[in-house]
Amino acid sequence: MKDVYILAIESSCDETSISVIKNGCIDVATTILTQMDTHAEFGGVVPEVASRMHSENITMVLEDVFSKTDITMDNIDAIAVTYAPGLLGSLLVGLEFAKTLSLVYNKPLIKVHHIAGHIYANNLVDKMEFPLLALVVSGGHTELVLMEDDYKFNVLGSTLDDAIGEVYDKVARVLDLPYPGGPHIDRLAVLGKDTYDLPKPMDNDELDFSYSGLKSAIINLVHNEKQRGNEIRKEDIACSFQTVAVDELIRKTKLAIHKTNSKRLIIAGGVSANKYLRNEFEKLADEENIKLSIPPIKYCTDNAAMIGCAAYPLYLKNEFSSLDINAESTLALF
Ligand code: KG4
Ligand code: ZN
Repeated sequence: MKDVYILAIESSCDETSISVIKNGCIDVATTILTQMDTHAEFGGVVPEVASRMHSENITMVLEDVFSKTDITMDNIDAIAVTYAPGLLGSLLVGLEFAKTLSLVYNKPLIKVHHIAGHIYANNLVDKMEFPLLALVVSGGHTELVLMEDDYKFNVLGSTLDDAIGEVYDKVARVLDLPYPGGPHIDRLAVLGKDTYDLPKPMDNDELDFSYSGLKSAIINLVHNEKQRGNEIRKEDIACSFQTVAVDELIRKTKLAIHKTNSKRLIIAGGVSANKYLRNEFEKLADEENIKLSIPPIKYCTDNAAMIGCAAYPLYLKNEFSSLDINAESTLALF
């Protein structure tokens, strides 16, 4: 079979990214332009600023990607783009850009769900084999999903309240750490000890998650310590928090492995960049004797390579989109 080259575009939040992906699993060239420093000044992503920066930069990002490879537009078989979920204005910049390229160069368009992208980033490590268990941990998702085949998602459990990434960011905020907080908690936790006694999220055998109690406990703890004039040991809070938060992911994933008799586990989403999480899941995989896949850190957070990977099974099934599709800010994959 002839090689398939997909040009993929991701602009759902604060990264403008474009990739050329070969056969759904090889990153030929990727550029990621992050706006993180700009938004950090405001303590979070400012949607208006994000979409303006995407429109200012997207052409440059495309030129940069093609400067890294001999592949040209002539070799591209399809244009893939994230159309949901995310910030509407940001999504629209990528989507309109993709539609224009599709029309001008006469290439089919493939719409990709952002979370499918995070999951399919695992194809950059090793081609996913089914059935497999997927743990999705991102800014908006905490889910355990059984995949029987490409795009066949059976949700076993999800968060009943906050997503784990959201809680990382909230905890970081009460500790006065910059946005986005996850990487800062990750960095500080290594320097601290698990000294604070925090409530365990949910002491049951269901596969759902709940993180709002843990989040409130930490917010209250920090406020109370501040009021009493006590020193707040940020490193220890970071370490205590992520010990509880990640241990809960481990416990529920282990239950899901047993319930489904799974032999393969993949992790997806921004929080899978976390060092403690990666170590703990490696230990779990050893104990349970299962095959574990976690994308390299650069493919854990938002990037277009994962969108190109997720577009490939759709390309093979001729699932192309018309040029009148719209972006959607909230849309469930499962
Ligand atoms: O998947 P993602 O890039 O965006 C969504 O699709 O939601 O995930 C972003 C989330 C943020 O909450 C961010 O703080 C978190 O991933 N994150 C981390 C780390 N890197 C990013 N959380 C913990 N440790 C990290 N190293
Ligand atoms: Zn994401």
